[in-house]
Amino acid sequence: MCGIVGAIAKRNITPILIEGLRRLEYRGYDSAGVAVLVPGKGIQRTRAVGKVIELENALAKEPVQCHLGIAHTRWATHGKPAERNAHPHLSERLAIVHNGIIENHGPLRKRLTDLGYTFTSETDTEVVAHLLAHHYKEKPDLLCAFRSTLAELHGAYALGVIHQDEPDTLYCARMGSPLVIGEGSEERFVASDPLALLQVTDQFIYLEEGDHARLSLEGRDIWNRRNLPVEYPVLRYEHAALSLDKGEYRHYMLKEIHEQPSAIANTLEGTLAEDHVLTAVLGPDAETRLQDIQNIHIVACGTSYHAGLVARYWIEEQAGLPCQVEVASEYRYRQVAVPGNTLLITISQSGETADTLAALRHSKQQGYLASLAICNVAGSSLVREADWRLLTKAGPEIGVASTKAFTTQLTALLWFSTALAQTNNRAPEMISANVRALRTLPGLVEQALYLDGRIEQLAATFANKQHALFLGRGTHYPIAMEGALKLKEISYIHAEAYAAGELKHGPLALVDEDMPVVSIAPSDSLLEKLKSNLQEVRARGGQLINFACETAELDNGDGITHIHLPPASDSISPIVYSIPLQLLSYHVALVKGTDVDKPRNLAKSVTVE
Ligand code: G6P
Repeated sequence: MCGIVGAIAKRNITPILIEGLRRLEYRGYDSAGVAVLVPGKGIQRTRAVGKVIELENALAKEPVQCHLGIAHTRWATHGKPAERNAHPHLSERLAIVHNGIIENHGPLRKRLTDLGYTFTSETDTEVVAHLLAHHYKEKPDLLCAFRSTLAELHGAYALGVIHQDEPDTLYCARMGSPLVIGEGSEERFVASDPLALLQVTDQFIYLEEGDHARLSLEGRDIWNRRNLPVEYPVLRYEHAALSLDKGEYRHYMLKEIHEQPSAIANTLEGTLAEDHVLTAVLGPDAETRLQDIQNIHIVACGTSYHAGLVARYWIEEQAGLPCQVEVASEYRYRQVAVPGNTLLITISQSGETADTLAALRHSKQQGYLASLAICNVAGSSLVREADWRLLTKAGPEIGVASTKAFTTQLTALLWFSTALAQTNNRAPEMISANVRALRTLPGLVEQALYLDGRIEQLAATFANKQHALFLGRGTHYPIAMEGALKLKEISYIHAEAYAAGELKHGPLALVDEDMPVVSIAPSDSLLEKLKSNLQEVRARGGQLINFACETAELDNGDGITHIHLPPASDSISPIVYSIPLQLLSYHVALVKGTDVDKPRNLAKSVTVE
């Protein structure tokens, strides 16, 4: 997804802009650009298709010292990846960068063309540049012109603007796309993600929807959508101490897979007592508020949606509450029947996924009791707009394929399900068993990571396969879905997951010696059922890879591989079984030589619809 970085400082800001773009690379992009104000010369723009390094090489040809600038990584929406479509876009003496989508760009483009403006790109962004230039021409006051421009835009935007006539000012605004201001000492920055600015500051101001701001060396002015001045606290970025480099690891994804024991332990910190969970983590009156909940709706996208699917089993079984789970892109456009006292839970790593955020906003008119955001980014839009929050403490996740965010979401959801069970006076033994299991979880995940070498050997079997099937039952069915998604995302092998009992209703027709079938076979109450399903696969010559507990006593034979996991109690088992599936997709991707951390066509944080 697109990324924005902007800076105003006494020092030369070009290296800061470039480093900021590099830190946003993980989000996915196809071109990059920078516009700086060169003293005595005006705005100088450089753009390049491809990686940030191409832009850096282009800039190196004519190095300049400058103190004001904006930069962008573009993920094509309107107009294909090409230099002419890359940001910044210029109009007369100004330059802008934009994330999001301007929905009324068509009529605006027509009007501006009629007014004599010439378009050089197919983007929706260029209309904003010309519109601002037009308003400025009518009344040469940049703040007024910026406000008049914002008032005409429909859709989503985060914007950064510089103008030759105001060499000491950086303007920015947000509506539907995230934007933060980074505070330095006599220098200020703006970015779509604080990660871009951790190189220069760990102090941030999170703009609210509809805000616009003017930044200078001396200070900042922020106004809300009614143009009234607003003040926000400067917040220290919590994960700033965490290393953002790959360290000893070859890829961020591998590093993040290995960070899971500590990420899970951090997520649980301060949430567990001896034999019960500490509901006060949710706020001072959490106990009373939890008592009112009679139904749960969960909404999320991608991997976070899979975490919600697992949670449904926990919430219904452990807390005895009806629970339904839906992808946000569907939920946001439908009229949901909301029974009384229903809690809406949104789950998101980034807290900025456009569909999930829109779903939360949509829910506000639907009569929910309250909303809870389970999220990895404390200052994100989702967290700020929800009534309650439960933060996962995975630390920054850079690899596009989510790993530690997923297992910490599951950890938080199991904790929340236990909290609901506790409030509803469900069996105390079950609650204390969950607490014990959660305590053992980091250690079990650590043990599961020892399977790395064994899984690496197995990966070669997938190298020339076109398809794979993943099977699971119960809570492990969504884990099979997540395993299939991981393989698709980073190795580009078509993978599907089925509830193993559904095999005979269609997918069995596909099974032959070219179809690896991955089964998730923990020793739970459904194991015997699963064994019959696996025999159906073997009878058709399918190659079986079983992730199972040693005690599972699965059939041996040609074409069957077992990977043994440590015994884990039922509640935490889906979290432990996620680990080898992550490792499998990672090693298959290595064999296939794909771009593990930045798979083609995908973005880490999908901030447009
Ligand atoms: C993108 C990412 C996925 C992620 C999904 C939801 O598709 O590539 O890894 O699961 O967005 O993101 P969120 O930040 O809301 O969890």
